[in-house]
Amino acid sequence: MGAQLTENDKRSCYAAELTAKDVGRYVCLMGWVQKRRDLGGLIFCDLRDRSGIVQLAFDNETPSEVFDAAFGLRSEYSIMAKGRVRPRGEGAVNKNLATGEIEVAVDELKIFSTSETPPFEIVENSDVKPELRLKHRYLDLRRPDLTRNILNRSRIVKIARDFYDENGFIDIETPCLIKPTPEGARDYLVPSRVHPGKFYALPQSPQLYKQLLMLSGFDRYFQIARCFRDEDLRADRQPEFTQIDLEMSYVTENDVMELNEKFLVRLFHEFKGIDLETPFIRMTWREAMERFGSDKPDLRFGLELCDLSDLLTHTEFKMFAGAVAAGGSVRAINVKGAADKFSRKEIDSLTNFVKSYKAKGLAWLKNTGGEVSSSYAKFLSDDENAAIQARLGVEPGDVVFIVADKNKVVFDSLGALRCEVAKRLGLINPNEYKLLWVTEFPLLEYDEEDGRFYAMHHPFTMPMEEDLQYIESDPGRIRAKAYDIVINGTEAGGGSVRIHDAEIQSKMFDLLGMTHEEANEKFGFLLEAFKYGVPPHAGMAFGLDRLVMLILGLDDIRDVIAFPKVQNASELMSRCPSLPDPKALAELGIAVVAETEDDNI
Ligand code: AMO
Repeated sequence: MGAQLTENDKRSCYAAELTAKDVGRYVCLMGWVQKRRDLGGLIFCDLRDRSGIVQLAFDNETPSEVFDAAFGLRSEYSIMAKGRVRPRGEGAVNKNLATGEIEVAVDELKIFSTSETPPFEIVENSDVKPELRLKHRYLDLRRPDLTRNILNRSRIVKIARDFYDENGFIDIETPCLIKPTPEGARDYLVPSRVHPGKFYALPQSPQLYKQLLMLSGFDRYFQIARCFRDEDLRADRQPEFTQIDLEMSYVTENDVMELNEKFLVRLFHEFKGIDLETPFIRMTWREAMERFGSDKPDLRFGLELCDLSDLLTHTEFKMFAGAVAAGGSVRAINVKGAADKFSRKEIDSLTNFVKSYKAKGLAWLKNTGGEVSSSYAKFLSDDENAAIQARLGVEPGDVVFIVADKNKVVFDSLGALRCEVAKRLGLINPNEYKLLWVTEFPLLEYDEEDGRFYAMHHPFTMPMEEDLQYIESDPGRIRAKAYDIVINGTEAGGGSVRIHDAEIQSKMFDLLGMTHEEANEKFGFLLEAFKYGVPPHAGMAFGLDRLVMLILGLDDIRDVIAFPKVQNASELMSRCPSLPDPKALAELGIAVVAETEDDNI
């Protein structure tokens, strides 16, 4: 049996808190064995806890039973060590370690439990396969970089709580078993035992509840809210994630943005020592698309898009003229001075890259020391070629990439290409932070396949007053009072002014193709509530996981979540989702008709 913890065994401090100032202090440490080194009559053992590492020393002054026990220490044993802090011997100082000037001369040692050899070494920046790490996530979390991420996440949450509390926000929990909502991503459904055949949904966000809390008079609401969305995963997306969610009464979009800028300023100051300039840049959605091909532009580098459409309406070259004639466009980016960085092979790989964004191809032009080569120039007149080069300001050394297609395809592909090129050329400074608000989003998005409009944010977003006139005639043209906060090309949060008028809300449901009955069935409680004096209100939500990821300079959201899911939405450690007990299914009145063959969990 392992040693037991007694009343006398109280941790005096964390390992990495010890410095030369503590020499002479008697300490009690709890942690794990990082590694043990035997040097004849001398044993060194690194003890690790959540703060870091300190060296334990055992020598001829160590009580013999403690010395003998130290011989038995192996990696990842759970131990307690008591002893006196002393300076390290000459030549043994480790400048790379916070505690590198000292060690603890142990005179009492307890082994609480032993450990099998772990499936991977518990070290910083492990290059072990992610699947193996996630399967043993509890060990992965012992690795210093991951431990640090989780500790930092907790600090960020604390700063958020303090900030919103100081600004009069009330922390209110909203339910996790709610009515399924058809808009947005797919819901996770939870069957009801008491009402067989009926289901709750897990919330995609607390949206409706927080709006109702404004109606109830709480005025300023805040919650660290868990959200669930059954959507395809990416590096910045998880099926369950956390929002810093808030809502305010009697505010305009400007008020919401100003307040939340203050939160981000505090966060970056306290966390990174960076003083962000306010007000942040505000850019309309249209400008963001036209200049950067994206509603979440990364402003750390240039490579802006340039519209060539008007120069090419009458060209003989079908590829270009056809795109413009069909209502699309021809746009380009000029990568200055990089002609020699893009061989034919590189350009082929970029062509494949834009094809994954549905572009039919990538036209290009290179000016190598004054000599021009191009994939498209021969199809254009001299005047057209000259006009394109003049507009793009092409000089010797430049390389130009052009996409002609429907606007969506042009923006998606060039927006992504812009980032890809910047990445390949090393134009992105990972230590720089560029924040901006993107505003005036379209209220609706038309889905050609479904032949109907969808809300771009959600159906409760207020249209801009000056665009209300297009509700009947040209709904696609209506802009919304919505705003997203974008950090280094990632959407870190978003929100909007809400509709507080039952009539406009009903019109919105109309636009989304819902009949009166459908709207009532799905959102009747909201429409009913809207009969009882709705204050004007607005709010937003930050993606907490994304925010933490961005602030810590990481590019995988899983690195800031203690127990994340993988690409196929399973959790490798506990192996879920899993087959339920048939008895539980029977009680729920559920028969499974299609079982997954997938053993990939
Ligand atoms: P939205 O859907 O834009 O707005 O979500 C707000 C923020 O949440 C983060 N986010 C995610 N993070 C990780 N994994 C996901 N699957 C995921 N989906 C979203 C993003 C995003 O900006 N109720 C509204 C907010 C409001 O209007 O107040 C909402 O949920 O960072």
